[in-house]
Amino acid sequence: MSEIRVRHTNPLRGEITPPPDKSISHRAIILSSLAEGKSIVRNFLHAEDPMSTVGAFRQMGVEIEIQGQGSGGKGQGGRGEVSSPVAVTITGKGLDGPRRPQEAIDCGNSGTTMRLLCGVLAGQPFSSTLKGDASLSRRPMKRVIEPLTQMGAVFQSENGHPPLTITGGELKSISYNSPVASAQVKSAILLAGLYCDGITTVNEPEKSRDHTERMLRAAGVDISIEGLTVSVKGRAVLRPCEITVPNDFSSAAFFIAAGVIVPGSEVLIRNVGINSTRTGLLDILKAMGADLRLENEKEVSGEPVVDILARYSPLSGMDIGGDMVPRTIDEFPILCVAAASARGRTKITGAKELRVKESDRIASMAAELRKTGVDVEELEDGLIIEGREKLKPAFIQSYGDHRIAMSMAIAGLRAEGETTISDTDCINTSFPGFMGMLERLQR
Ligand code: S3P
Repeated sequence: MSEIRVRHTNPLRGEITPPPDKSISHRAIILSSLAEGKSIVRNFLHAEDPMSTVGAFRQMGVEIEIQGQGSGGKGQGGRGEVSSPVAVTITGKGLDGPRRPQEAIDCGNSGTTMRLLCGVLAGQPFSSTLKGDASLSRRPMKRVIEPLTQMGAVFQSENGHPPLTITGGELKSISYNSPVASAQVKSAILLAGLYCDGITTVNEPEKSRDHTERMLRAAGVDISIEGLTVSVKGRAVLRPCEITVPNDFSSAAFFIAAGVIVPGSEVLIRNVGINSTRTGLLDILKAMGADLRLENEKEVSGEPVVDILARYSPLSGMDIGGDMVPRTIDEFPILCVAAASARGRTKITGAKELRVKESDRIASMAAELRKTGVDVEELEDGLIIEGREKLKPAFIQSYGDHRIAMSMAIAGLRAEGETTISDTDCINTSFPGFMGMLERLQR
């Protein structure tokens, strides 16, 4: 099991290019596999999670070729290098192109692979099985099983958990009120909706990320969005795409926070996607007093992209909840670290979803921040964090959760002495090369 060690050293200075967006990389593979013809995905995230999606479609007979070097995210405990840009060519054979896989499809650690695939497999005229690693096998799947069963798919599961066996076939369109604001649930239903005659509608309690909607529209699918309601017209022929994936805001987030909380730092983070369904962290950090500047705004493949300049700034605690939660969903671990470095109290509520991520992120962050001397109260749906001037070095557990590992590595920059984070291979699910980037900024 690999570990990383972090020491408080110099201010962080310089510029970095974070890895390509994970959510968009998954979707680019899925939609291209279902399109008719050859698609090219540039700046693809060659890390374990999106590679699980590639593996799934290859198992179903879709031709996918990867050009460019990449570690593929394997091994090295977060020390793997991010490759030079990777391009993927996918030859899709249409909605009905996927063939029955010979073996169970292994989704690894990736909830996005499993839940979005459920939507695609619900529409296929065969049975298939999806499995995952120990963390994914603990995650709730009823949230996709329920609507897809209403549409006509048949599921077998371990009491709502993976492995899942899906028997797909003729589906009927539904109008579904989702009890959770989840892009994975919304996307699974919209993908299944492609296999229905008529219009499938999903309504969500708050707005979750909208990459699927943007990409379906770009593929020529008739999709309408009104507030929190998205409708898709089925049986379209998807156009192949040529897309360049923007860099991942959720990976940039570790360096945005590091730039803000490490005294004397100034970090420029290049070409980051700032889709407004993802950027709650920017609004929150600014409200806490962060000096963040957005420069060179442009559009890349239908997504807004900027350079972000993050400078050290003293932060003050604040209350966070409501519709800010889905816009910040993957950034709570690093936000907790920023809160631990702020003056005063930060209260996060309405974030119960954090309990069912790659780990229970409320419990994980509470336990690990406490080890660094921070006063944390765990709430059913959030945390109360009392910021402090200096953190204590500690021996940190990652719980096999990439975002806990990387967040606590950044916390280590505020500690006096050496912080060790164990079990860091998980970093390669989303951010091979994380440690190398951090070390370059410390020089
Ligand atoms: C994702 C959606 C979010 C997010 C996850 C990626 C996606 O999950 O936490 O990391 O790509 O659709 P939920 O949809 O479960 O909120």
